Amino acid sequence: MKRLNSQLQHDGAPLELILLIRTLLAGCKEISFRVSQGALAGVLGSTLSENVQGETQKKLDVISNQILKDTLRDSGYVKAISSEEEDTVVPCNPEGNYLVSFDPLDGSSNTEINSLIGTIFSITHAPQWMEADDPSAFLQPGTQMVAAGYVLYGPSTMLAMTTGRGTHIYTLDKTHGGFLLTHPNVKVPEETKEFAINTSNERHWEEPVKNYIGDLLAGTEGPRGKDYNMRWVAAMVGDIHRVLCRGGIFMYPFDKRNPSKPGKLRLLYEANPMAFLMEQAGGLANTGHGRIMEVMPKEIHQRVPTILGSKEEVETCLTYYQTDK
Ligand code: F6P
Ligand code: MN
Repeated sequence: MKRLNSQLQHDGAPLELILLIRTLLAGCKEISFRVSQGALAGVLGSTLSENVQGETQKKLDVISNQILKDTLRDSGYVKAISSEEEDTVVPCNPEGNYLVSFDPLDGSSNTEINSLIGTIFSITHAPQWMEADDPSAFLQPGTQMVAAGYVLYGPSTMLAMTTGRGTHIYTLDKTHGGFLLTHPNVKVPEETKEFAINTSNERHWEEPVKNYIGDLLAGTEGPRGKDYNMRWVAAMVGDIHRVLCRGGIFMYPFDKRNPSKPGKLRLLYEANPMAFLMEQAGGLANTGHGRIMEVMPKEIHQRVPTILGSKEEVETCLTYYQTDK
């Protein structure tokens, strides 16, 4: 089975980027080990602190963030990092050529129930002009990413990654510590009968989403003429993995509750990397009003509404926004 290194070379990734990705993944392997120890290592539960977004941090959020921060800072390849768990950007090597953004532990509430969690990351070039502590360099649209992916800590540890030449999925072989290419060039089926959305938020949705989900729920008796099934892992990384593997539509739409949070998911750490993976696998990623990867970030922790998945299903969903039917 092909190893990560040879696939990255095959895809034309420059040597320094390959070395950076390998360094980042070394950190993820450590997180994978800590996560697998669970209650035995005393890593479960919450800390007494909140992150910049007002969410109580789990111990594993803090540990995972620290592992990635230390690993990337020591590598020399990185000029600065931005993390969901940091208030602002973390300066690294002023001579580094890359910027890395990450959600160190997506779905961390799932740690309490030994369910799916993961690390989501993206990499862009560091502009020459930037100072290492300058957050404005991170305010680039997703189209500027040179690599993105996630590591899923499940029954097996898997990596989904793209450098812009298709989306490939690898499985960590814990006997020798390498990621092996188990699902080359994944293609998301264009049609689906599966959707993922937190329906308990229905009263806060806008009309297009209410109407679209209403038509899915109507099944064979409704305008879509088929029965749908619903799945919700409550970790984006788990839901997106399912959609990449067997199709579906995943949504965290605009929410009327708080105008300063026009969606739950963060553009830099969650929406953009998943959008890159989805598009490279033939799927679509949209906010309802445009391509996610073309959103110009205004601040590093910005949130966006997200609709990702099977091409035809996302296109159908978007027609509800166009006509407001
Ligand atoms: O990181 C935010 C996140 O945990 C996602 O991973 C997940 O898709 C979503 O929030 C779950 O939201 P809710 O609490 O509405 O189920
Ligand atoms: Mn997350």
